[in-house]
Amino acid sequence: MANFEIRAKDGLARLGRFSTKHGTVKTPLLMPVIHPGKSIISPKDIVDVFGFQMVITNSYIINSHEKFREKAIAEGVHGLLDFDHPIMTDSGTFQMYFHDLPEEEIDPLAILEFQKQIKTDIGTILDAFSKPDVGREKVEKDVELSLERAKMSVGKKDEMMLAGTIQGGIYEDLRERSAKAMGALDFDVYPIGGVVPLMEMYRYSDIVRVTLATKKHLPPDRPVHLFGCGHPMLFAQAALLGCDFFDSASYAKFAEKGRMLLTTGTVHLKDLSELPCECPICSNTTAEELKALPKDKKDLALMRHNLYVSAAEMRRVRQAIADGKLFELAALRARSHPALLEALQVMTENMDQLIESDPFGKSSSIFYTGVETAVRPEISRFHERVLSRYPFKTTDTIIIVPDIGERPFSDTASTIIAEVRKRKPEEVLLMFLTPMGVIPWELEHVHPAQQCIFSKSVDPVTLNISKKRLQEILEIITFNKIVWFERESPTNQLSKGLSDQYNLTKTTTASETITAIENLDSEKSDWYIRKLRAVLMYQWGENAGDIANKEGIQVVFSRSTGKIRHVTLENEIIFTVVPTTGLLTPTFKGGEILLHANIDSTFLVTMEKDAAEFVAKGRSALAKFVKNASSNLKAGEEVLVVDNESNLLGVGRTLLSGVEMLVFNRGVAVNIRHSRNI
Ligand code: GUN
Ligand code: ZN
Repeated sequence: MANFEIRAKDGLARLGRFSTKHGTVKTPLLMPVIHPGKSIISPKDIVDVFGFQMVITNSYIINSHEKFREKAIAEGVHGLLDFDHPIMTDSGTFQMYFHDLPEEEIDPLAILEFQKQIKTDIGTILDAFSKPDVGREKVEKDVELSLERAKMSVGKKDEMMLAGTIQGGIYEDLRERSAKAMGALDFDVYPIGGVVPLMEMYRYSDIVRVTLATKKHLPPDRPVHLFGCGHPMLFAQAALLGCDFFDSASYAKFAEKGRMLLTTGTVHLKDLSELPCECPICSNTTAEELKALPKDKKDLALMRHNLYVSAAEMRRVRQAIADGKLFELAALRARSHPALLEALQVMTENMDQLIESDPFGKSSSIFYTGVETAVRPEISRFHERVLSRYPFKTTDTIIIVPDIGERPFSDTASTIIAEVRKRKPEEVLLMFLTPMGVIPWELEHVHPAQQCIFSKSVDPVTLNISKKRLQEILEIITFNKIVWFERESPTNQLSKGLSDQYNLTKTTTASETITAIENLDSEKSDWYIRKLRAVLMYQWGENAGDIANKEGIQVVFSRSTGKIRHVTLENEIIFTVVPTTGLLTPTFKGGEILLHANIDSTFLVTMEKDAAEFVAKGRSALAKFVKNASSNLKAGEEVLVVDNESNLLGVGRTLLSGVEMLVFNRGVAVNIRHSRNI
């Protein structure tokens, strides 16, 4: 029984809810580590003062001290910590590694039983921690031993939730093997273990590789915990890779050494003349005053600072996921340390895995942050969709208009657009060339075309990607000539070399550009039909495009913006354009038309019989009642929700991917916009 529910996604990140006997928590979340005897800050204050939702403590430490053990057995771990929010316990694996304890020090089943006995919310198996650089053979043994213990533990978890740690060192294939085998067992949380030493050595790119390898094979309906990752400068990137749980002993350990955690790295109090932080501690004192405090008071002040900073960053991460802006936050943080930037580069080399998961149909702006921007999931996917779904493959002239950075960019080419509107696609196609690549005029309002904000000084890597994308588009279209409207733009230089391959005319004014289009026989063409076809195909594939040419199709323009607002068929609205995404949302009638047009079955979600009636009445389609969904279906798509006999129940936007819908038994799969009986 999974206790995890997804509310929003961004990259591989999930904004979620996780339910325990002691309440439901929001993820991604950070659990401060509580030492049952030593913690200066009480678990109560961790929640009440700093706003955390959950803590983690160590069952091995509790069990090894009679005083803690007896109280925990009598009053539960919640009694011991005087805390009534969720508690996770670790097993002692880390202490075994850290203090090099002998194998027989902890019995895996005894520590499991002890965690059950003290009524922790989430216990952890005794996994086998692989030290870095011990060699592959040893790591392989640790993976096997962890799996063996996992198998003997998982059936005995009873009421307690259990975390099954993935080991595998820096070896991606071992991580994958471990994740596959562990993923097949019924754990409630999957920690990624063995990464603390990597963290300490700033080997963040190894952490990225290991995390991506592990994530590939874990069941999507269980949270993933990055064990021992407590530095706030890592949260954004780790969350973007799909980590849901974090724990921090760093807040205390760093403080004891006079070190302050910042989202940009670590600073030593002794080096500071100013406190570079806005937390309540730093706002109410000075560096000199802090330095002058006695050690215990200073430690406490720094711990509190570290907790404030860590909590705030986790809130920022959650908000960024909700806004579809986590990539930008991670890119920003990556500028704090070269090792983090390298990690970001490793992530961009593995972008396919993020594209798989990143939701379609976001409306957020996309700020250029550097070389990584052009391959962001939203942008890569736009280009891929244009390549595979752009309807117009034959024309006489392609006009290329470099993007001068203004938004909406179409306003800067209104004279040319007015001419193109009069022509048919067989005569002329208009393409905007932006640093993200080519935007066909028909898709000018589709996200992220107008939402990508670049600086004038775009880097050469990005321009190269843009050029490659231009070439790929030119290869799928048959045409006679290119008219290139030269403008002051970073992408203007990309015409270089094109004249060797193509019949290229350069123009410098809009009227020159128009004159350069040969005056082909132009019967009146309904330009919006052309746009409609392009957007329909972009969203639902080839067959949907034909709806644009149905007898009786008309469009209604917005009075304020002049953009297409609605599409009607015989005066009934069938689609509405979402102003922020340029995408179509069907009405129920529109859904029926899509269904009859025989669109790709990727966009059909079939409900169980018992739930059909609810969806027909407009209730959300819940994941646990989804009977069938395509493995190609992504989160964020506009889909048709049908019953067993393919009758349309409702139309709406997916919150989960097709794969997730089939796995999750909590939460919403499709938010229904319109339904049969309303
Ligand atoms: N704490 C930090 N790393 C680990 C790990 O790999 N396993 C366990 N159980 N706890 C940890
Ligand atoms: Zn501070």
